[in-house]
Amino acid sequence: MSRIALVTGGSRGIGAAISKALQAAGFTVAANYAGNDDAARAFTEETGIKTFKWSVAEYDACAQGVAQVEAELGPIDVLVNNAGITRDAPFHKMTPQQWKEVIDTNLSGVFNMTHPVWPGMRERKYGRIINISSINGQKGQFGQVNYSAAKAGDLGFTKALAQEGARANITVNAICPGYIATEMVMAVPEKVRESIISQIPVGRLGEPDEIARAVVFLASDEAGFITGSTISANGGQFFA
Ligand code: CAA
Repeated sequence: MSRIALVTGGSRGIGAAISKALQAAGFTVAANYAGNDDAARAFTEETGIKTFKWSVAEYDACAQGVAQVEAELGPIDVLVNNAGITRDAPFHKMTPQQWKEVIDTNLSGVFNMTHPVWPGMRERKYGRIINISSINGQKGQFGQVNYSAAKAGDLGFTKALAQEGARANITVNAICPGYIATEMVMAVPEKVRESIISQIPVGRLGEPDEIARAVVFLASDEAGFITGSTISANGGQFFA
């Protein structure tokens, strides 16, 4: 029986690459998404991976979504908390709404998704939680007080929960992608993006597959001695 993996935000961007890489590695994959029905449909047609719609920002929806995935596919062995949004603005222009939306999705979303899968993982004495944080949670970023705060919070979450999961053979790790060639990064104004690329020693944006490979590594049975850790994949832009 193959292991079951659930990837949030799993039908687009880095999440789509993660879903496909886990499938290629032999996992049965469920991809959650929040809003883009067309992208989800196209993703399922292309890959055969089932998609499930709910917002990670809503606790009850997450509990129901997890129950639905488990009813259709079986108990979740691997949870990849990948779903994330940006609402960039300099702090003096940032609205409470922009703060709240990013915290609700990028930080509380990790709680909302992990909480319902946790009791089953504890009972079965096996689990892999992989949180997709960000280079900007490590170093901070102009225009991203909300996002940097949430992503730094994800790293604290990872280190604390790793200690609680260890005895039950549940690992909790984080990956901090740098700037990856996705719609999210392409939405940054071109001039700003060019200046960011000039700060990346390898001289280019990363590819979604370069994050997905790290997820597959952490998701494997063989990675059981790695927990509470953070893998940086940023082309040398920042050394934590
Ligand atoms: N450092 C210092 N100053 C900066 C700056 C920086 N990094 N970036 C912009 N500024 C300055 C500008 O030079 C400008 O100064 P002047 O007014 O003196 O010319 C000022 O800030 C811009 O002020 P505005 O009021 O015009 O700002 P704005 O409302 O247009 O917003 C912004 C600007 C939204 C912050 C825009 O600069 C931006 O989008 N920056 C990119 C933020 C970023 O890196 N986001 C990452 C998205 S990808 C992602 O999040 C994935 C991941 O995990 C890596």
